[in-house]
Amino acid sequence: MYIKNIKLTNFRNYKNQQVELDKEMNLFYGENAQGKTNILEAVFLCAIGKSFRAKKEKELIHLEEKNACIEMEYEKEDRSGKIKIELNDKKNIYLNGIKQSKLSDILGKINIVMFSPDDIEILKSGPAKRRRFLNIMISQLRPKYVYCLNMYLKTLEQRNHYLRQIANENSSQELLEIWDEKLAEYGAQVYEYRNEFIEKIKEKISNIHNNITQQQEELKIKYLSDCQTKETYKEELKKTRQSDIERGYTVKGIHRDDIYFFINKKQVNIYGSQGQNRTVILSLKLAELEIIKEEIGEYPILLLDDFMSELDGKRRENFLKNISNTQILITCTDEFTIPDKMCKTFQVNKGNVENINK
Ligand SMILES: Nc1ncnc2c1ncn2[C@@H]1O[C@H](COP(=O)(O)OP(=O)(O)OP(=O)(O)O)[C@@H](O)[C@H]1O
Ligand SMILES: [Mg+2]
Repeated sequence: MYIKNIKLTNFRNYKNQQVELDKEMNLFYGENAQGKTNILEAVFLCAIGKSFRAKKEKELIHLEEKNACIEMEYEKEDRSGKIKIELNDKKNIYLNGIKQSKLSDILGKINIVMFSPDDIEILKSGPAKRRRFLNIMISQLRPKYVYCLNMYLKTLEQRNHYLRQIANENSSQELLEIWDEKLAEYGAQVYEYRNEFIEKIKEKISNIHNNITQQQEELKIKYLSDCQTKETYKEELKKTRQSDIERGYTVKGIHRDDIYFFINKKQVNIYGSQGQNRTVILSLKLAELEIIKEEIGEYPILLLDDFMSELDGKRRENFLKNISNTQILITCTDEFTIPDKMCKTFQVNKGNVENINK
């Protein structure tokens, strides 16, 4: 699949910008703070429905403006389409010109895998980043997952609110059963999706990692969750009920899920070297790429943000050599040539993108 063109109106530091992309290799280069990552952010927004970095959607609108618009035309093996997102006080989403009522209606239309230097946080930072990684992968392949997850989070909030009501106003504990039932139902559904995809990652990642490390390291993954089934999770909620009431929030649930990574039986984020952490992330992302490919029957679009800066020339070349039939959008601070590949090159300067191919 590939994106044919991108049109940005008042998005971040862009006023009016149109970019016609190459089916395969696209390179955006320019100095810092010119708008390179903003392009990738726009693509991410159309694929996942959210930005990967904005806390509030208002940040996406040009500071001097009130409305922004992002449009993208894409081509898949079996169909083409057009996504449009309007941002003002609200977010309006259009698919092929028709307004959609739910954000999830555009999920899975454009499939992406993003590589960025911040990916290292998936290992180094807390479990929220690891859950986020899963959420981004699963939501583009199973839009219903987003519904279950959102319902879970909404129910969790209501349960927490009620826990505080019990503590402060002595409300009846019986009603808590209703929240427990709902929470367990959605929790078990989310678990099923996550477990399905973690099994897929396990299947792929050992081989990928073996290849990268020339069989020197054995990478294993473990998924930890309190919600393996609806019944066992309900039991857990019962057991922790008193402490939940005292604390005023729910301690157990899929909002605490985590994944552990081990190299030769040692936990990577604790014992691993910098290089080992990086390699695990690369293996994880490549596993994601293979899983999406298997699911949709073609390669997703690769967004490589500043990615090449972490690799030496040889590794850059090796990485790109192994990829074909894939649209790639690369950002970097210097122009570099990609051997043996036709590459559409864009110079990015103060919110202006210019194709410099002769
Ligand atoms: N809402 C906004 N309105 C106007 N300008 C914005 C807005 N949000 C971000 N910017 C500007 O966009 C620029 C950052 O863009 P971006 O993150 O794409 O940079 P970059 O080219 O990737 O830089 P780097 O090489 O440092 O990663 C900054 O100049 C920032 O001030
Ligand atoms: Mg950047």
